[in-house]
Amino acid sequence: AGTGKFFVGGNWKCNGTKDSISKLVADLNGGKMESDVDVVVAPPFVYIDQVKNSLTDRIEISAQNCWVGKGGAFTGEISAEQLIDMGCQWVILGHSERRHIIGEADKFIGKKAAYALSQNLKVIACIGEKLEEREAGKTFDVCFQQMKAFADSITSWEDVVIAYEPVWAIGTGKVATPEQAQEVHGAVRDWLKKNISEEVASSTRIIYGGSVNGSNCSELAKQEDIDGFLVGGASLKGPEFGTIVNSVT
Ligand code: G3P
Repeated sequence: AGTGKFFVGGNWKCNGTKDSISKLVADLNGGKMESDVDVVVAPPFVYIDQVKNSLTDRIEISAQNCWVGKGGAFTGEISAEQLIDMGCQWVILGHSERRHIIGEADKFIGKKAAYALSQNLKVIACIGEKLEEREAGKTFDVCFQQMKAFADSITSWEDVVIAYEPVWAIGTGKVATPEQAQEVHGAVRDWLKKNISEEVASSTRIIYGGSVNGSNCSELAKQEDIDGFLVGGASLKGPEFGTIVNSVT
């Protein structure tokens, strides 16, 4: 950790019921969270209202996706304006599950980020390589190409957090080593320096995601360029998520 306020996001993905979410919210409301950490949770769209009405204001709310522009005749989509209307402050964009399972392309994701920012939603912009890309020595190429697609559309980085999530580490229990994660985080920061500005490089938080849990978080949090986490599975367990939130201290 080194840049800005430590940031911990919980991405609940397509999990939960009214019941399980009300228990999780109760755990989060009762948990002790260090004050100098930004904490955000991303429930499925349909539970955002429930969470907004029951979760402490200490924790901000993110959506897991949004439409690329203004709402209208786009069946099944949710617009940035609607997310703002429901009290969301953040949106996760470019998650690998949307890139690789749904097939969202770099450019489309970049446009989504620009539109969300224009509506005052803050963006968690995800990047990360697949296993075969890592094994072929293409980790940096892939991450930089995804960064470029964001940079081609984004004009202000103030409300952007970058999440590096190596696809091979997501939901697999195979966490990146602190060194592996640091290597990419450092490279992404250098990329920002060269391609955007020194100021953006030194103020933008780069968080890590991929099998983060209560036991591996502290070692990762010690790395210079790891400024927080985006947590999947372990964010569905309130106490463990609390441990991760407090891992930087
Ligand atoms: O967005 C967070 C995520 O993709 C990581 O998932 O379950 O490996 O922590 P998980």
